[in-house]
Parts: sequence; structure tokens; C-alpha cells
Amino acid sequence: MSSAATPGKPVYNVKNPCPARVAVAHDISAADAPKQTRHYELDLGDSGLEYLPGDSLAVQPQNDPELVAQVLQAQGWSGEEVVTHPKTAAPAPLAQALLEGCLITSAEPKLLEAIVRKSGEGHPHAALLLPENKAALQQHLYGRDALDLLQENPALRFEPQEFISLLKKLNIRLYSISSSQRENPRSVHLTIATVRYQSHGRSRSGVCSTFLAERIEVGRSVVPVFVNSGKGFRLPEPDEETPIIMVGPGTGIAPFRAFLQERRATAARGRAWLFFGEVSERSCFFYREEFEQHLRDGSLHQLTTAWSRDQAQKIYVQHRMLEQGAQLWQWLQQGAIVYVCGDASRMAADVDAALHQIVAQHGGMDAESAAAWMQNLRDAKRYRRDVY
Ligand SMILES: Cc1cc2nc3c(=O)[nH]c(=O)nc-3n(C[C@H](O)[C@H](O)[C@H](O)COP(=O)(O)OP(=O)(O)OC[C@H]3O[C@@H](n4cnc5c(N)ncnc54)[C@H](O)[C@@H]3O)c2cc1C
Ligand SMILES: NC(=O)c1ccc[n+]([C@@H]2O[C@H](COP(=O)([O-])OP(=O)(O)OC[C@H]3O[C@@H](n4cnc5c(N)ncnc54)[C@H](OP(=O)(O)O)[C@@H]3O)[C@@H](O)[C@H]2O)c1
Repeated sequence: MSSAATPGKPVYNVKNPCPARVAVAHDISAADAPKQTRHYELDLGDSGLEYLPGDSLAVQPQNDPELVAQVLQAQGWSGEEVVTHPKTAAPAPLAQALLEGCLITSAEPKLLEAIVRKSGEGHPHAALLLPENKAALQQHLYGRDALDLLQENPALRFEPQEFISLLKKLNIRLYSISSSQRENPRSVHLTIATVRYQSHGRSRSGVCSTFLAERIEVGRSVVPVFVNSGKGFRLPEPDEETPIIMVGPGTGIAPFRAFLQERRATAARGRAWLFFGEVSERSCFFYREEFEQHLRDGSLHQLTTAWSRDQAQKIYVQHRMLEQGAQLWQWLQQGAIVYVCGDASRMAADVDAALHQIVAQHGGMDAESAAAWMQNLRDAKRYRRDVY
């Protein structure tokens, strides 16, 4: 199976996405977990869409109709006004253009600029637009959206087309595919944390994760998708003895569920070690039974977990890696490939630091030699990251 174009096969991309029916959607976090994480299965039918473990799926979301209605109300629009749809470039009712084509969940400098310009002298936020105030502008806009800017300036009126042109396009979101097509020939699975937060006195939601969590009807809704190749994040050939070490806390688990299914389907020979972390074993041990089955059938050899909030002090995947440093070093000496997936902002850097420490401690190296050793690992394509 390949996600590359093959003569006679349909090519799906941003301009020609594949319509996929949402066949299964359910929580894999408990109701009292601090955030909701969900499992989705999209039915590919006879679309011919193909993917490989390590690929991600691009999903085109729609905005929350309630937020669209509030934006329309803030400007006194009916929604029937005809504008150019930002995605299709064809005439469309304003409400539809906002729903499908515009990023309204963030507040962009361009919109604030237009507001300040239209208000004339003395707008309280004019100074934020000065080049020297970039950081303050960013801070001001963080956690706000287009509706906030309109509501904070109730006297200002835009032409519908003018307003649309001040917004960014509503783009696709990527999700690591959490299934192997060898085990699921006609479906693609996703593992998605629903983004919800409070900011400036209002509840807010991530567009795509809540589109899937709240606004689709299982068994009926069809979402536009296409595959984004994960060329740098591939398994070794099944007949290779190469061991693999997978580090995937939170939704970082997604590609490794795909890897394990693929390893079972291909009777992969090398050993596999999975590090998974979440807040609590009781509420967030995603896919527990499946991983236990992989341990029994030999597609997974070791499963190490880190529950960050099950005790007073935080325990993260990198703490477990350090505890098992001697064995990790052995696996690395045996040619293991290290895969890391999940949060880029903190986790990936901390896991990287832990790997350096393990190499230094168990390989008997100083920091500089350990860094060179890690660089070699990277150069040999044995350190693969898919972080966001
Ligand atoms: C290659 C790749 C693979 C990925 N795989 C997965 C995956 O398997 N599963 C998964 O769940 N995600 C995955 N993601 C992330 C995913 O693409 C989306 O970014 C995520 O679902 C959020 O999208 P959204 O549309 O729901 O939220 P958006 O509408 O994009 O909103 C997110 C934004 O909200 C703002 N925000 C969030 N919290 C706060 C807060 N507390 N205060 C103020 N502002 C805040 C931030 O600006 C943030 O960027 C992946 C990303 C990439 C690039
Ligand atoms: N803003 C949002 O609401 C939101 C929602 C979903 C996802 N996201 C983003 O999406 C990405 C993935 O989120 P996710 O749902 O997969 O889970 P996540 O937020 O990455 O959390 C998964 C686990 O990793 C732990 N963790 C926190 N900091 C860590 C670190 N430095 N090193 C190792 N582990 C660490 C968490 O512990 P603790 O939480 O107990 O510290 C939790 O146990 C992140 O970038 C996250 O910021 C954001």
C-alpha cells in the first residue's frame, strides 16, 4: 500500500479531498478526565484512499454555527449577503462563507488594524500596532477571536466582503493516523484531544477537534479528508531485526497504535518497546486492552507507562526512560530506532534531554560526546520525531 500517486488511482488532496463518513466516534478518556480524548473511525468506502503507518490525515473542519451566528449578529448581518467564498472563490451567502471558509476563532492583527483605521484618531489599541509593540500585540490578541474584536468595537461597521477579506482561510488540521490499513482496509482511525478552554470570560473551542466531537452525526456525517505523507516516520521492514522504541504520551500514542497493528499484520521480527504517558491510569489509559493484546501476541515486547497525576510529584515518560536507561542503552546499542510523537512545546525537548542523559550515563560519555552520539543517531535516521 502506498500513499503515492499511482496511474488509475484517485488522487486526493486539498483541492480534491476524499469524502469520508464518520462511522465510529467515542471517548477513550473517562468522563472525569481533565480533558476529553476521542477515538474516530472514518469509513473510506470504495474511495480507494490509501495510507501507511506514520502518515497523517488532513481534515477540513467547519466552524461552530453558533459562533458564526454571533459574528453575524455583532454586525447586524442576516447571513444572506453574497460574498466570494474564500475556498471556492464562487459567490456564496456570507453565513456559509464564514462557516466553511474563514478562521474566526482567532483574532488577527489585520482585523485589529482595520478596526483602528476605521475608528480614526484615538483608538485605545492603536499603539499596539506600532512595530516596537509586536509582543504586546501578540499578547493582546492571544485568547481573543474575531467576535471579541467586533464586540469590543460595537459602533464599527464592515461591508461583508471587506470583513471576509480581513480573515485568514479556515485551513485543514492534521491528525496522525492511528490505524494500519492492513488490518482496516476500508477505514482510517484517529485519536484526538478535544481543545476547549476559557479565555476573556468566554468558553472557547478548537475548530476541528470540536467539529468532530460535537458537530458530526455518527453514521451520517461526511468529512473531507486527504493523506499527508509521513515519509520520515516509517517502520523498518518487517523482516529486519531492528528494534523500535516508541515514545508517545497523550495523543502522541496515535501513530504507535498504527505501528503495532502493522507489526502484527506483517509478523514484524524486531522487538518493540512503547512508552505511554497520560494524567491517570484510571481515566486515561487509552487502548489499554489493545496494547495488552499486542503484548500477548508478540507484536509489542515492553509497555512502560507514566501517570503524571496519580501521585504528588509528576511522573512523565522521560522519567520512566531514565529509570530504564541501562536497558534503553542496550536497545540503542542493538540498532534501535527511536520514535517520538506528541507535544512539541515541552515533551519533545524533555525526552530529547533524557536521551542525551541516558547516552552519557550508560555509554560513559561526557555531554559533548553524548551530543555527538545523538547527532549520529539522527544522521542515521534512527531518531524520528513527529511532534506538534
Ligand atoms: C503532524 C501532526 C499530527 C497531529 N496529530 C494529532 C493527533 O493525532 N491528535 C490530536 O489531538 N492532535 C494532533 N495534532 C494537532 C491538530 O492538528 C490540531 O492542532 C489540534 O486538534 C487543534 O486543532 P483545533 O482546530 O481543534 O483547534 P484550533 O482551532 O486550531 O485551536 C487551537 C489554538 O487554540 C488556542 N488555544 C488553545 N488553548 C488555549 C488556551 N488555554 N488559551 C488561549 N488560547 C488557547 C491556541 O492558539 C491554539 O493554537 C497534530 C498536528 C500535526 C501537525
Ligand atoms: N490547549 C489545549 O487545550 C490542548 C488540548 C489538547 C492538546 N493540546 C496540545 O496538543 C498537544 C498534545 O496534547 P495531548 O492531549 O496529546 O496531551 P499532553 O497535553 O501532551 O499530555 C499528555 C501527558 O504528557 C504529560 N506532560 C506534560 N508535560 C510534559 C513534559 N514536559 N514531558 C513529558 N510529558 C509531559 C501530561 O502531564 P500533565 O498534564 O499532568 O503535566 C500528560 O500526562 C500538546 O501540544 C498540547 O499542548 C492542547
